[in-house]
Amino acid sequence: MGIPQPAFYIFKCEQSAPPGMPKPSCVTPQTQDLFQHLAQKLMKEGVMGTIQPIRTSCLSRCSSGPVMLVEPGHFMYAALTKEKIDRIVEEHLIGGKVVEEYLISADVWDEPISPCEMKKQMGM
Ligand code: FES
Repeated sequence: MGIPQPAFYIFKCEQSAPPGMPKPSCVTPQTQDLFQHLAQKLMKEGVMGTIQPIRTSCLSRCSSGPVMLVEPGHFMYAALTKEKIDRIVEEHLIGGKVVEEYLISADVWDEPISPCEMKKQMGM
């Protein structure tokens, strides 16, 4: 048997804007330990490895931050706190039930446009 793939990847935005920058960001002094909290929660639950947390840069939804993207499924969770992360790990990733109330607003996370369709729209 080979080495199993992870069941999930969690892309946690770790972008921070320099102090005084008007752009909101996902990492502030108040939210800087969320990634560490996520990793510790996965270890505590015994699911680190089959759920792989990844630090990533801006996911282009800064005003809804702190955000993280769960794949597979394209589930973008917004306005994260430690308590929300715990519930997402327990209910979605382990329990299999998406925590709908913590998902980003559909206004800013509508259905994707396929690359093929985008090329057509661009007249290419
Ligand atoms: S800084 Fe996190 S989405 Fe842009």
